Amino acid sequence: MTGGPTTAGRDPAAADPPLVAHLREQADACAGMGSPLYADLLRRCVADLVDPGAPDTVRAVLAGRHDAPGPAATGLRLLGAVHHLVLTGRAPALAAHYPSVGGTPGPGTWPVVRDVLAAHADEVVAFLNGPPQTNEVGRSAALVGGLLRVLAGRDLPVRLHEIGSSAGLNLNADRYRVQAGPDGGWWGPPGSPVQLADAWHGTVPDVTAPLRVVERLGTDVAPVDLRRPGAAERLLAYVWADQVDRVRRTRAALALAAVHPVTVEPVDAVTAVGRLELRPGHLTVLWHSVMWQYLSRPDQARVGELLARFGATATADAPLVELSLEPERPAPGARHEFLVAARTWPGGERVVLGTSVGHGVPTRWH
Ligand SMILES: C[S@@+](CC[C@H](N)C(=O)[O-])C[C@H]1O[C@@H](n2cnc3c(N)ncnc32)[C@H](O)[C@@H]1O
Repeated sequence: MTGGPTTAGRDPAAADPPLVAHLREQADACAGMGSPLYADLLRRCVADLVDPGAPDTVRAVLAGRHDAPGPAATGLRLLGAVHHLVLTGRAPALAAHYPSVGGTPGPGTWPVVRDVLAAHADEVVAFLNGPPQTNEVGRSAALVGGLLRVLAGRDLPVRLHEIGSSAGLNLNADRYRVQAGPDGGWWGPPGSPVQLADAWHGTVPDVTAPLRVVERLGTDVAPVDLRRPGAAERLLAYVWADQVDRVRRTRAALALAAVHPVTVEPVDAVTAVGRLELRPGHLTVLWHSVMWQYLSRPDQARVGELLARFGATATADAPLVELSLEPERPAPGARHEFLVAARTWPGGERVVLGTSVGHGVPTRWH
């Protein structure tokens, strides 16, 4: 399902309203990140918004949001709302088109989506009003691989702390199985329901390396509480419906989290870092993924200062590492890349360990 409607005939000089520009950008991003279904659906939303003769279904559910800028993620909220209806069994006709529930998309998908939007307009609008909630399990492959590189075979007990944890699914990273290359060995507990296939490329971490997590604590300014009814379905709904590997691993991680629940405290990043403590004989890890961009500039600076001050108290017997998977410019003016980086104390040296992708799989290790 690629292609979809074009914008031919549009006055190229006319400025797009922010929402239309955002939906176009999001469609391109989905196409570039392997979701032809979402790229197509977002382009069809745009076509309905800009064509005065189109049915007003899309206009109606997005009413009042025409000035919404890109960071509001309106396109992903809208498709999240539709996916939620599919996952909760309220859009059976559309299920036949959605790969996350075994369907196959095709040219007939868009009219069914539009029917679903019309039939469930109130629910869709209510869903749109909620914040987008995501927790990408694939990022565990990058984070755990980075941690193995930092440990370099040492069997030090690890105290795992995370900022911007969302539902905390990446705090169970050591309980997932990660494959080095398409035909390579697997790291992690045999029998884990979460299998991150073909996740490590390049100079891969040792798949036999030990990892002993003795403490795990998440924090987030707006955590997803998986104990709340419906929270897991809502989180799953934000996974792109045609990316079945991501859907599968998120489902598996949610099932694992029901057996091994993790604590995610409602605490912002500055407060969380200010509360860190070191412990002799342990490696204290602060890790984070795709959350740095949501911190204000002053908060980014504050976290950096707190870590540096705290790092200055680290010793060889009580080391500290900040491990991150964040979009960064490798050089001034260069394009953003998802870099896996570690800053270790004592010393405070920062090393880029690998280059990943937005959803964490695969990561190429340097
Ligand atoms: C895109 S999600 C990433 C979640 C998770 N780290 C992952 O990789 O799947 C960003 C998370 O950062 C959290 N966040 C935003 N601002 C924050 C802040 N100031 N302090 C702590 N968490 C924050 C959001 O609530 C959200 O859960």
